[in-house]
Amino acid sequence: QRPLCRLLSCPGTVAAALGREEQSSGSAETGSEDRTPKKRFSEVQKERREQAQRTVLIHCPNKISEKKFLKYLSQHGSINNHFFYESFGLYAVVEFSQKESVASLQNVTRTPSLGTEAAIPFRSRYFNLKLKTPLNQTSEQPSVQCGTQSSPSSKKLFELLCCAESVDDQLNTLLREFQLTEENTKLRYLTCSLIEDVAAAYFPDCTVRPFGSSVNSFGKLGCDLDMFLDLDEIEKFSTHKASGNFLMEFQVKNVPSERIATQKILSVVGECLDHFGPGCVGVQKILNARCPLVRFSHQASGFQCDLTTNNRIALKSSELLYMYGALDSRVRALVFSIRCWARAHSLTSSIPGAWITNFSLTVMVIFFLQRRSPPILPTLDYLKTLADAEDKCIIEGHNCTFVRDFNKIKPSGNAETLELLLKEFFEYFGNFAFNKNSINIRQGREQNKPESSPLHIQNPFETSLNISKNVSQSQLQKFVDLARESAWILHQEDKDRLSPSNHQPWGLAALLLPSVANNMSLAKKKKKPASERIKNLLESIKSSSTENSTATNG
Ligand code: CTP
Ligand code: MG
Repeated sequence: QRPLCRLLSCPGTVAAALGREEQSSGSAETGSEDRTPKKRFSEVQKERREQAQRTVLIHCPNKISEKKFLKYLSQHGSINNHFFYESFGLYAVVEFSQKESVASLQNVTRTPSLGTEAAIPFRSRYFNLKLKTPLNQTSEQPSVQCGTQSSPSSKKLFELLCCAESVDDQLNTLLREFQLTEENTKLRYLTCSLIEDVAAAYFPDCTVRPFGSSVNSFGKLGCDLDMFLDLDEIEKFSTHKASGNFLMEFQVKNVPSERIATQKILSVVGECLDHFGPGCVGVQKILNARCPLVRFSHQASGFQCDLTTNNRIALKSSELLYMYGALDSRVRALVFSIRCWARAHSLTSSIPGAWITNFSLTVMVIFFLQRRSPPILPTLDYLKTLADAEDKCIIEGHNCTFVRDFNKIKPSGNAETLELLLKEFFEYFGNFAFNKNSINIRQGREQNKPESSPLHIQNPFETSLNISKNVSQSQLQKFVDLARESAWILHQEDKDRLSPSNHQPWGLAALLLPSVANNMSLAKKKKKPASERIKNLLESIKSSSTENSTATNG
């Protein structure tokens, strides 16, 4: 057993922070606790989307009385839920019970007159609240409780990890601290809904749906917001199928390919966001990419957004990942730690390039968990055999069918600890035959690589695609080296475990801290043999425990 806190005494603020996070961590949606019933992905999407449509975003004056603010808005209908957050100013997210309340609020809202500048009128759900007379500072202090939308600082994370009771506890703590909060999730769906309002200027029946890590349960606070413009009319087609001998079609403009159609659609929506989208800044149209997209910042929410179009397969992969994340409580904890580990060592980056991506890392963890004995996660092929007629899903000729009812999947009989799994993950991929094998979660076993990319991870639905085609040999080698070194550090720790004088970052903290990453890259520059580098690394960890508590601040 580890001492309660090996390095630091647990400060009150940290304990309080832990308590706060615990309240929001056991939601049915994230599946982070085994006993909570798990909602289907489609159900969650539907509920969240509908909720977002009744919600407004308001930029508020810094000093505001919460009570009066809510009373003022209640004139338009009852309020289900609200919260404030700070991001270059104070913002409120207010969810009405009825959609009509939003229209009522819009009806009493004016377009501002800006003096020398001119406003382009747009009746969005993003408002600016002004006070006719500012609050008197002494008589009425603002009573607004404000949440943050960002992840904890390295210092706070370090403190929390060092105060944990075990490596398992460390992994669960990291998950609690980095997972999207209820509020952040609401803000993500609201942002998509606000973008949908802008895109609807061109395509009145469109839907803007979030996908990727915002919805697959593996998103870290601060991750980008992937969304796609859904113009699919699948539902309409199916209802019109059986209406006699007539089939009505719209007159449309034709272009030479699907890709050109996508580029044209994204081009106008990109223009629209740039010219008329309140709060959308830095709009870039990246239309020549393999998957054309519009990238922009949504200033008020602080999200970096990537908008694509008709990306239903990616939404299906998000659903699959969501299922895997909810099947066993160890999955998300392990994925979050591996994602954080990769980020701490610059294996991943927010800039596109030859590095491994979080999506690839997540699929690698899933694959690893399918390979345990007994397996912790089922293969995709097995999930397909459990599917019924309702689950059937073919997108663009690809069979994306798998069971979506959690009750049909038996829990795993594997009881391995997170500590063991973390260690084994590093060992497994530290020794994986990347040169000849491909990672395949559909079959849950290695396949011969069909092409020569250094890292081959089969796309679960578009099986001819490699999701890590971008990864260079040197980035893969860096991953392998770090995996081996991390496995070695954890093994080494086992030996030192009972030594009382060991005042050093331990377990996950030893693997994550920037000081470790720096030491590694420093050692690499000198090109010393691996064993010597590891030795030096351990030496430096042992001697710098006191410096670390300040050096890792921020
Ligand atoms: N995707 C894919 N094939 C790829 C890259 C991405 O199918 N080669 C899909 C996946 O469904 C992925 C989504 O696009 O989840 C979004 O991609 P990305 O933003 O790169 O990954 P996220 O999973 O969102 O992770 P992050 O938190 O790093 O944004
Ligand atoms: Mg993403």
